[in-house]
Order: sequence, then C-alpha cells, then structure tokens
Amino acid sequence: MRLAVNIDHIATLRNARGEGVPDPVEAALLAEKNGAAGIVCHLREDRRHIKDEDLRNLRASITTKLDLEMAMTPEMQMIALRTKPELITLVPEKREELTTEGGFNITAHFGSLAEFIKPFKRSGIEVSMFIEPDKHAIDLSLEAGADLVELHTGKYALQTDSVNGDREFRRIREAASYAKSIGLKVVAGHGLNYGNIAPFREIPEIEEVSIGHAIIARAVMTGLGEAVREMLGLIG
Ligand code: PXP
Repeated sequence: MRLAVNIDHIATLRNARGEGVPDPVEAALLAEKNGAAGIVCHLREDRRHIKDEDLRNLRASITTKLDLEMAMTPEMQMIALRTKPELITLVPEKREELTTEGGFNITAHFGSLAEFIKPFKRSGIEVSMFIEPDKHAIDLSLEAGADLVELHTGKYALQTDSVNGDREFRRIREAASYAKSIGLKVVAGHGLNYGNIAPFREIPEIEEVSIGHAIIARAVMTGLGEAVREMLGLIG
C-alpha cells in the first residue's frame, strides 16, 4: 500500500508566526525522499494553511504525485486547471470546521458534478471523490466520471471500542471491494494514525492511504530531541 503525505499542517505551523518556516515544500521533499508516493495539500477557500504560492511551489518541486484537495467551486476549478496536479480530490468544505468533516455530499451536487469534472479529464488530471464508505456514493462517483474514490475513514478512527471500530472497518472493507469491482481505484484517509492503521493491510483494494495530522504530529516529537541538541551545540 502506498502512502501519500498531507503537508497542510506544516503550513499551519508556519502561519502561526507569519514567517517562512517550516516550509511546506521542504517538508514535501523530505517526505518524498523517505518513501512517500505522493504529496497532498488542501487549498481552502479561507487559505488557513496552504496558500496559493505554496501550491505553485509544490507543483514546481515535487517529483512524485500532487493531489490537490479542493472544494467544488469555480475558483478552485480554475486554480487546479492552471496548476495541473496529477490528481484532484473533491472534498466538502465549511468555513467553521477544524478539518474536513464527513464525506462529500455527492447526492446534493450530482446535478452539476459531471460537468465540473469534464475539464479535468480533458486536461489529463485524475479526479477522486472523498466520500463516506457507502455503495450509493460510490455508484454516483463512477457515474459522474470520477477515476477514484477516497473512502472517509474518520468514523472508523473516532471509535473508541472494538465493536464499533470493527463495524466501521467492515463498512470500509466492503465499500473498497465494491468500488474496485465496478472499476474505480480506491484510496482511503482521514484520522488514520500509528495506532489504527494496521488493519488496512488486510484490504488489498485500497492502493493508498492519505495521512497528514498524525505524521506531522509525530515528526514534531521524534525531531524535538535532535532540535534541542543542535541548539545546545550552538550556544555552547
Ligand atoms: N484525506 C482527505 C480528503 C482530507 O481532507 C484529509 C484532511 O485534510 C486527509 C485525508 C488527512 O487527514 P488527517 O490529517 O486526519 O490524516
């Protein structure tokens, strides 16, 4: 299974001081150097983490695959067609949310989805739908012209007991199997971390997982000791 690393929260940290570090591009290159198969970023309407310039710099620098998560808006469509990522992932977006809550409401947007997707197909950009692990949403994704579905693993990740965790995991496994059987590529993501990822090895249909927060949070802790030692070396 491949790993795509979401670097949004490197930008969150950078923006906390409004200065240049840490640099999302440097983080992306480091992730690639260590085996990431792709880099994911979400250009939100409010630009709370990744900025337009980051997206341009990422496009110019990374050598694996750029997955741009975006809302289904004319502004994002224009930016994406100009940037030419290998892949776009359509996600729901609400200004007040802390992170992407729930999958894309494909039923509500179905009327205009196929038209929205068409220019991407003409430009050779693959389209992924970030949806709940639900058969109807998978069928509609295919019908609208998507190439992939990204199954939302947030509900699974939030479960604290094994009965509910197993139930949510089964939903994901069945959805992955169904999506693959009708010709869609399948990836998964949201809320995955070092403690809950292992069972995903049992789902061969899932080609890739997209992970952000857990990896960036881990990186802070695994890197902090070295950062302190380096500073001590400098102050003597
Ligand atoms: N996939 C999608 C579509 C997302 O919106 C996000 C969050 O930005 C992720 C994966 C990664 O989620 P997390 O940061 O919880 O690993």
